[in-house]
Amino acid sequence: MRPLRLGVAGLGTVGVGVVDMLRRHRDLLVSRCGRGIDIVAVGARDRGRDRGVDLSPYRWIDDARAMADDPGIDVVVELIGGEEGVARDLVMASVGAGRHVVTANKALLAVHGTEIAAAADAAGVHVGYEAAVAGGVPIVKALREGLAGNAVRRVYGILNGTSNYIMTAMRDSGAPFDDMLAEAQRLGYAEADPALDIGGGDAAHKLAILAAVAFRRPVDLDGVHVEGVEAIAPMDIAYAREFGYRIKLLAIAQKGEHGVEQRVHPCMVPLDGPIAPVDGVFNAVVVEGDFAGAVSLVGRGAGAGPTASAVVADVVDIARGARLPMFNVPASELAASPGASIERRHGAYYIRLMVIDRPGVIADISAILRDGAISVGSLLQRGRDPGETVPVVMTTHEADEAAMRGALGRIAALDSVTEPPMTVRIEQL
Ligand code: HSE
Repeated sequence: MRPLRLGVAGLGTVGVGVVDMLRRHRDLLVSRCGRGIDIVAVGARDRGRDRGVDLSPYRWIDDARAMADDPGIDVVVELIGGEEGVARDLVMASVGAGRHVVTANKALLAVHGTEIAAAADAAGVHVGYEAAVAGGVPIVKALREGLAGNAVRRVYGILNGTSNYIMTAMRDSGAPFDDMLAEAQRLGYAEADPALDIGGGDAAHKLAILAAVAFRRPVDLDGVHVEGVEAIAPMDIAYAREFGYRIKLLAIAQKGEHGVEQRVHPCMVPLDGPIAPVDGVFNAVVVEGDFAGAVSLVGRGAGAGPTASAVVADVVDIARGARLPMFNVPASELAASPGASIERRHGAYYIRLMVIDRPGVIADISAILRDGAISVGSLLQRGRDPGETVPVVMTTHEADEAAMRGALGRIAALDSVTEPPMTVRIEQL
């Protein structure tokens, strides 16, 4: 069989990783695919930049969009990024022209994924995007293939390595958030715009994609409730430990009685669960299938090697003739089932209040919680500083989010409460 011919658009860390992997594993891939995989063309913004790899064997294409119509290319590998602009034009035009596509672009798929899936079905091409979700962790393959016979109840995990690195480093060092974010940026973990990492947007992109694969519904980024980790203080991490938890930025999609919930926010998870030990830049994804039970995958969610590994796996699929529907079913069968709002959450909470140390404060807070039918599990006040601000922390038993929000609004309005309450949802995951 003749070799599969690739055009690689975008030569940043991941693009260079792909070139390197395809070169180093050429023979291995020929035996695995029964044919060669040849890069025939590459393109990026800056031709002159030294990328540390020899690109001279490949045709250089200045405007990546031209790859879509290039009869010498079978598969366009889009590693440019961004939900609009060149990346979107290239993917849509390539699919329209009957070319297979492999992309690492989570933002593009989170926003335009359903439209791309419909176009791919119409053209009969394969669109691979393993690298868009959790880098080297093969979660899309697990959902679409290994677990394809299961109805999925829940898929959740750590989908942003930068936030996980920051939470881990704060726990280990006791240092504040900003210092650890600067460290993550120095180490090259964060996105160009770190607000996407720490604000939860990056994890939301990935979760919206996974929820479409798992729950047979269109990609629904607007339906994801998103909160980031910026407000977590070192003392919250220390209190979490005292209560037997770790704080992680979790992405959770699950089917409940009110519809499909999609949410990204900091969570306290028990120390003995599958998520708590996943530290540093590692990602973890757990799928709960009705027949398989819980299946966990842990690995590196970013970086040249892991992301190239996912891109090349998609290329191998195409070389072997795979033509899978993008989101596990034909796009025409992605049905807009209802989404459940965060107000429907029923669960436990950690609350930290900064209060003036004076008699009656706890009584006022307890009365509000009692009125909201919210039951306190544990309560701690450390230190004694009459007239000054001290932290009071508590965990609650399971309560409705809507009731909790109402109670927190009333608590925040008390004279003795000096800062907005800090809350972290507790998940037994
Ligand atoms: N910036 C992302 C993260 C990696 O920190 O996990 C790429 O998606």
